[in-house]
Amino acid sequence: MANINYENLVSAKMQELSQIGSEIRNTFMLGQDLKETCPDLIDLSLGNPDLEPPPIVKTYLKELLDVQDIGAHRYMDGAGLEDVRKFISNELSRTENVPITSKEVFLTVGAAGALQICMRAFLQHDDEVIIFKPYFPEYLSYTHHLGANPIVINSDDNHEPLLDEFENRITKKTKLIIINSPNNPSGVYYSSEYLEKFFKILLNKSKEFAAVIPVISDEPYARLLFVERQKSILEMYPHSFIVRSLSKDLGLAGERIGYFAWSQNAFPNSLNLMSVFRNAARVAGFVCAPRLQQRLIPHIFNAKVDINLYQERISQFLKILELSEVFCVKPKAGFFVFPKIDNGFSDQEFCRFLAQKGVLCVPGSAFGKPGYVRASLTQSLSNIIKAAEIFVQAYNEIKKLK
Ligand SMILES: Cc1ncc(COP(=O)(O)O)c(C=O)c1O
Repeated sequence: MANINYENLVSAKMQELSQIGSEIRNTFMLGQDLKETCPDLIDLSLGNPDLEPPPIVKTYLKELLDVQDIGAHRYMDGAGLEDVRKFISNELSRTENVPITSKEVFLTVGAAGALQICMRAFLQHDDEVIIFKPYFPEYLSYTHHLGANPIVINSDDNHEPLLDEFENRITKKTKLIIINSPNNPSGVYYSSEYLEKFFKILLNKSKEFAAVIPVISDEPYARLLFVERQKSILEMYPHSFIVRSLSKDLGLAGERIGYFAWSQNAFPNSLNLMSVFRNAARVAGFVCAPRLQQRLIPHIFNAKVDINLYQERISQFLKILELSEVFCVKPKAGFFVFPKIDNGFSDQEFCRFLAQKGVLCVPGSAFGKPGYVRASLTQSLSNIIKAAEIFVQAYNEIKKLK
């Protein structure tokens, strides 16, 4: 055994990909180390929703398990059960204000599964994918894994992507654009006015290159909104796909169920997109989304956790930060806050310092925005308040040191 060389066992690609999002992993490892010495550590690092699913979820799960239908647990069409897709298409036709049939709904292993399927369907080696800061780090991993190149657009202090830069970076190589609103990590929700400008640029560029440039709108936080809903992306831009899941609004992140959908008249029938997506899902090894969760959807689709609890945590956290003049854009959805760290320390240094004081957060660098820190407010309100107080103490302490 001594002479066996394991160096090349793991593919070079996988070794390279393990570096992406390393700040999140480092934070996790730091947390593991600190838990021994600091049992009261408040871990705000992971975006794992802590609110339990509404009781109706368990009620229907039990009911579904009791149904004695033969074949209720077998394989099925890779796109999902027809009646469930029909149900979702009816719901979405109403909420998104565009016609959608079951032929434009695909059930997936969470929003992540939907992203994978869409990206595999459209991307090949050397293509370019436009993403925006602050971004969900998996966009980078998924893009690199397919041999494509991410083009990252900067955003302003309010985390709105810079439209001039966006316009300049669309080229013949642009094959896909991914937007994420409501956003992880900032909680920013793009207004319809902003998106109108965004899509105008995109349509002009599509004309210039005589190409269709699809947009994936990654929306797992769409139903955790604290403000009025803006126009659906499907209504604003025909060549778009909305990606959703039940992970965040129903607290079912571990059950892995989601879907994506597009508008009925958006693409010519000759493309047979459904069949393309079935193949993309097949080669990714998904086979189909978990069947029991699919069957649950029609019963629980319009239920959600009490989002007032997330909103209250955010508001209490920000109140404490404001007293110390720590700048943070007020989130319009979700359970993350993304304060600015302009006290002389880097985001990584600040997160390490904060961890020693008992609070774990993720440096903004993980999301392409150094100088910020993400806190996932997925803890009790009393812990959130305690964490905010520790946060500002650490912030002010460091400011004095500098
Ligand atoms: C922006 C964004 N997209 C996609 C996902 C993946 O969600 P799911 O658990 O539904 O796969 C997450 C999860 O954190 C996310 O924050």
